[in-house]
Amino acid sequence: MIVGSIKEDLALEKRVSITPETAKNILGLGIKVCIEKNYASHLGIEDNEYKQTGVEIRDTPSEVLKSSNLIIKVNCPTDDEISIFKENTILVGMLNPSNNKNQIDKIIKKKIKIFSLELLPRITRAQSMDVLSSQSNLAGYRAVVDCVAEFEKAVPMMMTAAGTVPAAKVLVIGAGVAGLQAIATAKRLGAIVSATDVRAASKEQVESLGGKFLTVEQAEDMETAGGYAKEATDEYKKKQAEMMKEALKKNDIVICTALIPGKPAPRILTEDLVKLMKPGSIVYDLAAEQGGNSAYSEAGKINTVQGIKVIGVKSLMNSLPLTASSLYAKNLFSFIRNLYSREKKDFNINLEDEIIVKSLIEKV
Ligand code: NAI
Repeated sequence: MIVGSIKEDLALEKRVSITPETAKNILGLGIKVCIEKNYASHLGIEDNEYKQTGVEIRDTPSEVLKSSNLIIKVNCPTDDEISIFKENTILVGMLNPSNNKNQIDKIIKKKIKIFSLELLPRITRAQSMDVLSSQSNLAGYRAVVDCVAEFEKAVPMMMTAAGTVPAAKVLVIGAGVAGLQAIATAKRLGAIVSATDVRAASKEQVESLGGKFLTVEQAEDMETAGGYAKEATDEYKKKQAEMMKEALKKNDIVICTALIPGKPAPRILTEDLVKLMKPGSIVYDLAAEQGGNSAYSEAGKINTVQGIKVIGVKSLMNSLPLTASSLYAKNLFSFIRNLYSREKKDFNINLEDEIIVKSLIEKV
């Protein structure tokens, strides 16, 4: 059996799916690994590092795609790539099926088995494969780093002979994976941090990281059985906007991470709410690519409104592609290990395994 991977379109994606470390792990299962020439040289990882672990290097993407039984990618393959895939190959990646229906349809028609790791169930056994968590964790960290770089004041409180500098105030909206890491990172930098979420369970998590939890009075808990958020009711949205008014006047940096799975990003900050912030403040919208939690947010742009910078994030993982690749490749290795049967020396699509069933895409 051969696992193969080709370069992504570097203009859009800098992450890779196999690192020398995970190549070694895959080879350790008794599976061969092949990659395209200069696969990760843009990250400073040369072919030699892969060769030393036993990876085979091919000159063209087409050679990799034709010789592999299982192909791992970051993003959905292009039409050209799909045309080269051979029947009965397995494809694993973050294929974003709702946005790539045409491509997915073409791949299925070629009798290729597709696994999209965003669809993994959030169960204990799948934690080491959870690409959404590994990447969002980094996104939460990077959000704070970016905000601090844009913010024109110091973040921690400093007592100096020349006087005292007050600590900056950071508000995090949405205390899921990215939000909790943003809280932790902002606290480490010395900010005064508060956070809000529609799920009551997040209060304890926010407080355990040293953040203050802001909540809407007498609100129902909006957590689903799967642990995700439900869409807020109109009444909740009204109360949340009232609560935000006071919070926005006080905070210097607002990091938006609110998400409801399968829905456009909830719009929490209206134009009027953003304008309540002080000039020099920052709104950082991690949900910009899903429509945005904030008014004035556009993916890949910084819009300045009354001196307030609204940063719309795009392809954030390209800002830390080495760490993002390292975690993503480990997630993929865990998935492959679960899919591979050493006895049969083959990939085993066991439809009784929740991990396999939930991540397999059989129709568009
Ligand atoms: P998550 O599902 O773990 O957390 C989202 C949180 O928002 C949940 O705790 C949920 O209860 C909360 N929420 C939902 N509606 C809310 C509302 N009306 N008010 C307050 N809280 C609300 O999601 P995760 O993984 O932390 O991702 C957060 C965002 O960051 C997503 O939009 C995701 O797409 C984005 N992201 C962007 C990346 C990039 O490269 N641009 C990379 C990773 C994440």
